[in-house]
Amino acid sequence: MPQLTIDGKQITAPVGATILQVARENGIDIPTFCHHEALEPWGACRLCIVEVDEGSRTRLVTSCNFPVKEGLAVTTKNKSIIAIRKMIIELLLTRCPNAQAVRQMADKLGVTGTRFPIENEFCILCGMCVRVCKEIVGAQAISFASRGGNKKVASPFFKRSGDCIGCGACVYVCPTQCITMNDVTEATDVYAEGTEQVGYARVMNNWRTRLPLKVCKSCGNPIAPEFQLQVLGKKAGLAPDALDLCQGCKE
Ligand code: SF4
Ligand code: SF4
Ligand code: FES
Repeated sequence: MPQLTIDGKQITAPVGATILQVARENGIDIPTFCHHEALEPWGACRLCIVEVDEGSRTRLVTSCNFPVKEGLAVTTKNKSIIAIRKMIIELLLTRCPNAQAVRQMADKLGVTGTRFPIENEFCILCGMCVRVCKEIVGAQAISFASRGGNKKVASPFFKRSGDCIGCGACVYVCPTQCITMNDVTEATDVYAEGTEQVGYARVMNNWRTRLPLKVCKSCGNPIAPEFQLQVLGKKAGLAPDALDLCQGCKE
């Protein structure tokens, strides 16, 4: 088990842990914007930078993906770290001035405004949606598209995603709530006599994807996207009729 110091505190850390994990477990706060404990570290936002002294040299690293080592001396706050974090958040505030998560982080870091021309985005390009879709859901329905200032998360060719199962994990994980979905009711058919059959669909607005919702065979209420149930049922090896009832009718 490696022994190290973080801000002068002697710590024994688990093998394979990152500086961020060990710092947080020891009550030391390091700000992050692209980290989620359920996802692989990505090192994109750089807000989590710390200084490491390995004996022979000192350097700045991203703590979310830097593994602890024997004898490491970590500093989580000093003048240059604070200045870099402030610059990062100022740039994010320039890009996403109305995103609540960005404003809260700016407040926390004492950044009150930006010197640069304001944009009006909400996506901070943290990549959590892309990673949750790939690593947890296993769908790989979305990815980064374009480069530089035009970089964004999108479905393939900005068209309907054939791989999106409508699970909503990307909506849940997005720190700035810029991914939206709606469950809608729609008339699916109009019979000669004028009666309508009502259906339900889930609309993933950002991914231009509309998925019919399966309805409960007993009460007729919507359960979840049919595609999602098919995929999950297959993965779990369930019989085709195992997901025909909603939770309420199963009990
Ligand atoms: S809703 Fe679609 S894009 Fe979002 S995580 Fe689920 S499968 Fe991926
Ligand atoms: S859409 Fe949300 S989760 Fe995805 S990269 Fe942008 S801010 Fe992050
Ligand atoms: S949290 Fe480490 S780079 Fe974003």
